[in-house]
Amino acid sequence: MNLRPDEHTLWPIPTPFRPPQDGPEYIRHFAEGGNLMRNRITTILTTTACLVAAGLSSSALAQQDRRDVDLPAGDAKPLIEGVCVGCHQLSFITNSVGNSQEDWSTLVSTMIALPDQQLDTITTYLATNFPKKADSYPVVIDGPHKVSITEWMLPTRGSRPHDPIEAHDGSLWWTGQFANRLGRIDRETGELKEFPLDVPNSNPHGLDEDTEGNIWFTAVAERYVGKLNPSTGEVTEYHVPEGTRGPHTPIFDQNGTLWFTMQSGHVGRVDPATGTVTAEKTPTDGTYPYGIQVNSKGEPWYVDFRGPRIGQVDPVTGKITEHELPNADSRPRRIALTPDDAVWYTDYPRGRLGRFDPKTSDVKEWMSPGGEKSRPYGIAAVGNVIWYVEAYARPNILVRFDTETEAFQSWVIPSGGGVVRHMVATPDGDLVLACSAVNHVAYVDVES
Ligand code: HEC
Repeated sequence: MNLRPDEHTLWPIPTPFRPPQDGPEYIRHFAEGGNLMRNRITTILTTTACLVAAGLSSSALAQQDRRDVDLPAGDAKPLIEGVCVGCHQLSFITNSVGNSQEDWSTLVSTMIALPDQQLDTITTYLATNFPKKADSYPVVIDGPHKVSITEWMLPTRGSRPHDPIEAHDGSLWWTGQFANRLGRIDRETGELKEFPLDVPNSNPHGLDEDTEGNIWFTAVAERYVGKLNPSTGEVTEYHVPEGTRGPHTPIFDQNGTLWFTMQSGHVGRVDPATGTVTAEKTPTDGTYPYGIQVNSKGEPWYVDFRGPRIGQVDPVTGKITEHELPNADSRPRRIALTPDDAVWYTDYPRGRLGRFDPKTSDVKEWMSPGGEKSRPYGIAAVGNVIWYVEAYARPNILVRFDTETEAFQSWVIPSGGGVVRHMVATPDGDLVLACSAVNHVAYVDVES
């Protein structure tokens, strides 16, 4: 993946996106925490499915743009140049941490259904030219706590589940960013249901639930915030103000106002009672407000992924106050708040977990167990315990940090995680993770 935050604005999305048509198919994984279990995914193979998934889903021009690097010579090169540009650039392959053939096969099968022989040709080539990098093995820290992780493979391959939530009825929801849809998992029955969006290429990014059970989401590419009624599948669109774009991560405050960060350097809000959408620009130009949370006093706080700063929003006026972080290279990506309203953040390019004290403006940082390159990303607080993911290692690592004892413990994510871009805590103190590249949603049962 791309490490330069400034280039992280938008992934190219196929126009129009047509997901592989091989029907709902999912498997359920269960693994005790600490155990690495590699899933084998059974693919349903039809040539039609392969063709649709491979090439016809986007214009020839867009596909040409995605051939952004010249792959090493080999028998599978033309095949890869044909089928893998359906959703993203070829540099996803050259920038990857590499894999064994078996793990390439598992990963590729979460994105596209290929006939056995093609899968074999492609994965032999990938394993030869892109073997697992030595520094990508996870650092796992033992400890006394126990978790168990359940994962669901999502029905539409390569859908890039970006953000997850648990709804009040206990169901789990995800945004399928590349597949232009939201989805719901019924944890009791195991049923997965998808809700395709009418506006093409909405690129749904984040989501949250209101008190009536509607699911609100940010359409990052199409400049609207949507309200999905899960009973009817109907979506109401709330357009963001002129001059703003890229609604990114949404969150409800205690009064039912929806706040959201924006890629244009704004923090927006929707008043659901009136449907009015407003946005406030950040004091600094060229910012990228990213993760956002609301504290115990109803104040939204966010982190700026393009600069060393944290933002505080006045819930009445919407005005933003910025707080500088001490290290100029900090690029905080996601945020969590502990009950004392301290601000915790993952400093993605510096491999650190940070704490900003809003009362004193003091900052304290801890190097993540995986070091500078570990790319800490999704983060959530359960009471005084911080959970976050190291997104560089394959498999990704789930880290527990006790803010009182400052002890770390960690676990591998069974599916590999494939970059966990967001995670949320449930009211029971468990966690829900969106595993973007492996097309999974994971539920972490925190047992002790
Ligand atoms: C149906 C869409 C789709 C197709 C087709 C597709 N991919 Fe992907 N791929 C994805 C998504 C979604 C991601 C995750 C992107 C992200 O989260 O940034 C991804 C990510 C990746 C990554 C990075 C994985 C990681 O762990 O970080 C690699 C490598 C990759 N794809 C290889 C391939 C190869 C090889 C092919 C062709 C055989 C292929 N992809 C075809 C959707 C697709």
